[in-house]
Amino acid sequence: MQFNFLVMYRSHNCGELRASHINTEVTLSGWVQRVKDLGAINWVVVRDRYGLTQLVFDQERSKKELLESSQKLGREYVIQIKGTVIERESKNPNMPTGDIEVLVSELTILNKALTPPFTIEDDTDGGEDIRMKYRYLDIRRNPVKDSLIFRHKVTQEVRNYLSKEGFIEVETPYLIKSTPEGARDFVVPSRMNEGQFYALPQSPQTFKQLLMVGGMDKYFQIVKCFRDEDLRADRQPEFTQIDCEMAFIDQEDILNAFEGLTRHLLKEIKGISIDKFPRMLYDDAMRLYGNDKPDIRFGMAFGELNAVTQHKEFKVFNAAELVVGIAVPGGNKYTRKEIDKLIDWVKRPQIGALGMVYCRCNEDGSFKSSVDKFYDQDDLAKWAEVTGAKPGDLICVLSGNTNKVRAQLSALRMELAERLDLRNPDEFAPLWVIDFPLLEWDEETERYHAMHHPFTSPKPGQIDLLKTDPGAVKANAYDLVLNGNEIGGGSIRIHDKETQALMFDYLGFSEEDAKAQFGFLMDAFQYGAPPHGGLAFGLDRLVAILGGQETIRDFIAFPKNNSGRDVMIDAPAPIDDEQLEELSLKLNIKS
Ligand code: AMO
Repeated sequence: MQFNFLVMYRSHNCGELRASHINTEVTLSGWVQRVKDLGAINWVVVRDRYGLTQLVFDQERSKKELLESSQKLGREYVIQIKGTVIERESKNPNMPTGDIEVLVSELTILNKALTPPFTIEDDTDGGEDIRMKYRYLDIRRNPVKDSLIFRHKVTQEVRNYLSKEGFIEVETPYLIKSTPEGARDFVVPSRMNEGQFYALPQSPQTFKQLLMVGGMDKYFQIVKCFRDEDLRADRQPEFTQIDCEMAFIDQEDILNAFEGLTRHLLKEIKGISIDKFPRMLYDDAMRLYGNDKPDIRFGMAFGELNAVTQHKEFKVFNAAELVVGIAVPGGNKYTRKEIDKLIDWVKRPQIGALGMVYCRCNEDGSFKSSVDKFYDQDDLAKWAEVTGAKPGDLICVLSGNTNKVRAQLSALRMELAERLDLRNPDEFAPLWVIDFPLLEWDEETERYHAMHHPFTSPKPGQIDLLKTDPGAVKANAYDLVLNGNEIGGGSIRIHDKETQALMFDYLGFSEEDAKAQFGFLMDAFQYGAPPHGGLAFGLDRLVAILGGQETIRDFIAFPKNNSGRDVMIDAPAPIDDEQLEELSLKLNIKS
């Protein structure tokens, strides 16, 4: 066997050569992007991570065998060439290396390749499924490759910034016990402990709190989290958090610290300076946008119309808990047919409205509504005043149960903003939503659940309210919203055993259950737990939004599909009987 210790695969990369390199001898390695074979001359474009370079093989200047072997190259072959940089006759201004080409003197095929199942071009002919199956080929395409490089840049900036601010990155375990973040756990059976299971962390929540008890003071971790929940464009079963915690701080310190990080990222990554991030109370966000993560890049705030609609004979409005509308800028230009389509849209089961009342605001200051039978011009003028509608706008009004109607109108607001191109991906509008309720009523289980998680502290002085009006208790809990997406959330924590025990009690944990699941935390609280709090960013979401997109999949090297499958490696998959037996799982499987 021959060992070649001095192989130099490349002197330059494929995105590097310019006119200044003309007459230089170079060695390049990469993948064949395309071949343009004209018989007497063959142009081959070679690609690597850095770009494309055109190679030329021709009858006059290359050896015959060399031209012939270049004619055998197929797409995605891995090649190495040696040659001389020459000036290109017809320059390509769209290509950074477009002034030159390399006249090849030596060609080595490092590896052959099957024809890829889709074209490795920016605009590929491959559908989502096939690209997921051959993700390693998809990663060769610029859009995916650039997204991964972009993610690396963001991650580096996060690490640099937080390290400079005195945060210490500490790794916490993946094989743990359930952490309640509101989703189901992924569990891992333990071979050595028969019939027992680890849970993968939904977040490192309890560990970061224990690090505060351990005196670590300022912690962060870029960490994988696992949640078995329904998937959407902005959700993956395994995703990454920038998880942070601080001790001896109050809410203001946390908001300032992580506003600082976000401001730094916007400046370094996007070149955008944003001074102070606005803050909005949770109650106001719900009242004005029907949503706890409002996109404030555009207006269309809600106007509550009960007072100006419920004095007439219109039964639908009179029976409603909430009558609420938005003014659609320029919406009066919609035809009757277009408005009917909008009504159908809100009536789709996914939105669930029973109907929609509308009012055209004519340019001459008059109004024309779909309920003219009940409301006169003076009434409608009040609708316009409350919703902020101007001549030329369209007022859309929904009514019914407060929570439902807010959710429906919020969906309509986002849909209209999309149609009106108001969601500009190059604009960044961060927003703190603060003072979340501590608890949330769950219709299904008919119980209160922790809105954030059970370690969140009620606002000072509100503990007693837990007994009388639990739904009204607010927490020092906050979300960071960017362009209508929740990119982070956190809270000030409970740090004494008694309050934590009380909280578990309110959430319906028996004393034994609380002890079994979280005894370790309550024990730790007895050994001098400092006041502490923190927050976690969703890194995938943050990166996607900074990259001008809302689908996180393209920013994850090997994502799962909507059914939680990795179609490339075909996981999840059954395991064999032997393995089941070893894990003491076999007997438990029902046939
Ligand atoms: P929370 O559950 O709000 O808080 O999660 C923090 C952030 O993580 C992101 N995120 C997700 N991203 C992608 N896919 C998912 N399935 C997914 N789920 C959540 C969101 C979210 O804002 N331990 C607390 C934080 C704390 O209190 O400090 C926690 O995990 O962007």
